[in-house]
Amino acid sequence: MKKSKKILITGGAGFVGAHLVEKLIKLGHKILVIDILKPQGGISFVNKKCKFIKGDISKISTIKKIKLWKPEIIYHLAAQSAVEPAYDDPKFDILTNTYGTFLLCNLAKSINVKKFIYTSSAAAIGSNSKKIINESIKVNPDSLYGITKHNGEILVKQILSSTRIKTIIFRLFNTYGPGEDLNNLKKGMVSIYSSYIWKKKPIIVKGSLNRYRDFVFIEDCVAILAKCVSVNFKNKNELFHLTMGENLTVKELLKKIIKASKNKFDYPIIQKKSTRGDSFGFRSSSKKLLGKFKYKPRYNLDKGLEKYFKWIKKIPIKKNLKPYHPLKNK
Ligand SMILES: NC(=O)c1ccc[n+]([C@@H]2O[C@H](COP(=O)([O-])OP(=O)(O)OC[C@H]3O[C@@H](n4cnc5c(N)ncnc54)[C@H](O)[C@@H]3O)[C@@H](O)[C@H]2O)c1
Repeated sequence: MKKSKKILITGGAGFVGAHLVEKLIKLGHKILVIDILKPQGGISFVNKKCKFIKGDISKISTIKKIKLWKPEIIYHLAAQSAVEPAYDDPKFDILTNTYGTFLLCNLAKSINVKKFIYTSSAAAIGSNSKKIINESIKVNPDSLYGITKHNGEILVKQILSSTRIKTIIFRLFNTYGPGEDLNNLKKGMVSIYSSYIWKKKPIIVKGSLNRYRDFVFIEDCVAILAKCVSVNFKNKNELFHLTMGENLTVKELLKKIIKASKNKFDYPIIQKKSTRGDSFGFRSSSKKLLGKFKYKPRYNLDKGLEKYFKWIKKIPIKKNLKPYHPLKNK
């Protein structure tokens, strides 16, 4: 086994974070998770095999605790992580995504970590007229969330520019999979529409059926993120669009979700007006990402949805989904 590293994962109890923690533990690394346990996307899950500190990354007291542990690598995932809720509590979004990232970058600089990996979002890009984009696209976020995630990118690059720390920024596209909170109808297109199916209710779509997104299954997303520990990055700053290059409209997505559910129920679609800050479409090339990481996607949408619904089918309709977290007994 390769040398075990001390790795901090902020937001490690959230949807993506919990899967990443599990993967890195399996690879033999020592993990510290800092999390406020207020996820938007995931069912909160603290892995028993990692060191856990409940704390807010926008508080100096939390940063001091991280400093004592002295990680060699930082994965910074903690965030107010969705477009709609940013407007419910803009102060929390701005404090966490911008000030929290500022504090973490300064901490990384002061303890001289080797790599700083930041999960930004496709929302940082915003709408654009190009059919297909890549990492060189000029950004123009449509939402407060997009702005604060983009601010995070700028802070990472600017604060860590005068150091030897390698910075790797990933713009995540719509990532879905077991572990998402099906009771949260404000984050994640796949989980929101799947939630209506889970509850056997008509599907409410806020916005056009022609909107389009790239969809990534959680296992592909986390496989790439985890590879950052061992990959040798020649450039000091890297930016990747974390997409497997599979793009669908909402209309096409709904068809696939209904098919994957195998439910014999007629799902009427109720269209409502779109929510504030919602972007019309993102579609990105995955060439740079798959080339650098020498990665072949393991899941297309059909295969990912099949696995997703195997998990969903086991969950009774309940408010508290914690007991049904897919990583619970692993
Ligand atoms: N899931 C996606 O499709 C997607 C898409 C684009 C970008 N992202 C980005 O990926 C990252 C992970 O997203 P996710 O889907 O797992 O979201 P999530 O909401 O499930 O997880 C985020 C975690 O951060 C924690 N957190 C929030 N504010 C905090 C604070 N101030 N201090 C400490 N912890 C805090 C939450 O409690 C939660 O556990 C985020 O940075 C998000 O912006 C995700």
